[in-house]
Amino acid sequence: MRKQIAAANWKMNGTLEQANTLLDAFASAALDVNDNRLAIFAVPAPYLILAKEKLAGNPYLQVAAQNIYSKKSGAYTGEISVEMLQSIGINYVVLGHSERREYFNESNAFLADKVNIALEYNITPIFCCGEPLNIREADTQNAYVAEQLTESLFHLSAEAIQKVVIAYEPIWAIGTGKTASSAQAQEMHAYIRSHFAAKYGADVANNISILYGGSVKANNAVELFSQPDVDGGLVGGASLIVDEFVQIINA
Ligand code: G3P
Repeated sequence: MRKQIAAANWKMNGTLEQANTLLDAFASAALDVNDNRLAIFAVPAPYLILAKEKLAGNPYLQVAAQNIYSKKSGAYTGEISVEMLQSIGINYVVLGHSERREYFNESNAFLADKVNIALEYNITPIFCCGEPLNIREADTQNAYVAEQLTESLFHLSAEAIQKVVIAYEPIWAIGTGKTASSAQAQEMHAYIRSHFAAKYGADVANNISILYGGSVKANNAVELFSQPDVDGGLVGGASLIVDEFVQIINA
C-alpha cells in the first residue's frame, strides 16, 4: 500500500539523554499522521527499545533499525539480526544506505540477501538507492539507479515488492545542503516507478512508496512532497531538530 512517509535517519548520533529528549518531544508533538501518513524513526540500535516505548502511544509513529545482517543468527560478532528486531517489535529497517555501501562495502547482491531475510521476518525494508555526483554529471543516473534496484529487488514477487519502501537519495545531496530540485526529484521518482512498472505492471508500481532523501528541510519539504511521485522523505540532519522534523512530518 502506497503510504506517505516521513522517516528520520539519526545515523550514528545522540546520547541516551539526547534520545530521550527527542523522543519525548516527538511523542507529544501535534503530528498530522494517520493510516496513510506515517512517521518512522530510524534510531541507533542502543535506543530501539527506548524508542518503541516512548512512541507506543501513537500507532502512526514507527521505529526502524538502521541495519541488519543477512543471516538469521550465529557467529557474526557485532551484527544485529532480524530475530532480535522481531523480538523487540521493530517492523522497519533501512537497507542500502549510501554510507553503508561506501564505508562497509555493501554490494547489490549482499543487499538482496538482507532484503530477503527482512521480508521473511515481516520487517519492511526502506531500501536506499542513488547516484554519486560524477554519475549525475555524466547524466547516467537512471541506469545507475536502475541497476541498484534490479540487482537487489527484481528477484522479488509482485506481492513482495509492494512491501518494500524505496528511498532515492542522490549522494551529492546527502549532508551537503545541495538538495535536489523538486523537478530532479520528480524526474527520478517517476523513472523509478516506471522501472518497477516495466517489471511488475503499473498497478504494482503505483503501490510502492518512493521517498526522497538528501538535505530535506522544513523549508523545502512541502514543495518536494507535493511532487506526484514523491511519497515523503528520508531525513538525516533535520530529523534531529524537533521543530524542523515536526514541520517535515506535517508537510
Ligand atoms: O538517510 C537520510 C540521509 O542520508 C539524508 O541526510 O542530512 O542530507 O538529510 P541529510
